Amino acid sequence: MLQGKSIVVTGVSSGIGAATARELMQNRAIVHGVDRVRPVDHELTGFHLADLSDPASIDELVAALPDGLAGLCNVAGLPPTAPPELVLKVNVLGLKRLTLGLVPKLADGASIVNVASLAGFDWADSIPEIRAFHDVDFETVASFCRQYGIEGARSYFFSKQYMIAWTFLQRWTWRSRGIRMNCVSPGPVETPILKDFVATLGARVEEDMRVMDRSARPEDIAPVIAFLQTDGSRWLRGANLTADGGMSSHIALAKSGLA
Ligand code: NAI
Repeated sequence: MLQGKSIVVTGVSSGIGAATARELMQNRAIVHGVDRVRPVDHELTGFHLADLSDPASIDELVAALPDGLAGLCNVAGLPPTAPPELVLKVNVLGLKRLTLGLVPKLADGASIVNVASLAGFDWADSIPEIRAFHDVDFETVASFCRQYGIEGARSYFFSKQYMIAWTFLQRWTWRSRGIRMNCVSPGPVETPILKDFVATLGARVEEDMRVMDRSARPEDIAPVIAFLQTDGSRWLRGANLTADGGMSSHIALAKSGLA
């Protein structure tokens, strides 16, 4: 049941965020949309213009959102064609600042959902970088990128690896209040940024597309995010739901040699 739940959705003006907002609204939730551009073609209960790469804008957003929120869906994200520092700011630092800023405004039992990616599958291969990134902020992200050689498409992979690891790490952070965090990892989804993935990741995306029967549509991902906002998902904590048409199982099997 989503009826009457007050839920914040970022990245609401396009792709997966827009589909998530529609899914939640159809199920009679109260949706507070957030994006750096205004949505054009769908209704929301409320909309907040904010730039998740800018700490001041995020702090204003946190102050403007209401108390007693039942959920937060962190969907906004930039593709690997964007500058590496900006990718890390929006996909990780902005997401973390918004989430941690909103925790006092979340109701007990609230659900936080982060959209990660199949691109984060190998998160366990980046432990030193993930550890180091815990202390990185908007001022130090440029020097982090230089120190760890985070360039080009690597910024996107690392941002999603970090999000999966960070979600796991938060499995019990707010347990005393019943607040839980999980993530959803889509494979390729037909949204405006799919062309950016093909342009930068080339062979890897093309191989994924060859193996899959089709890429996902935003409407394939939105119900999975919405499920994590329902009470029926209450026992999921620090989980990574792989909404990828079987790709992560396929990759894991290939790596293990089992199939
Ligand atoms: P999209 O480009 O259709 O939507 C992303 C939204 O985020 C846009 O409305 C954009 O304005 C917003 N956004 C970007 N920078 C922002 C900022 N600084 N402040 C506020 N809003 C900002 O992309 P899509 O595909 O819907 O992506 C949503 C999430 O899904 C992203 O986190 C992406 O990494 C993830 N994802 C997408 C996949 C795909 O194949 N499309 C695959 C796996 C994960």
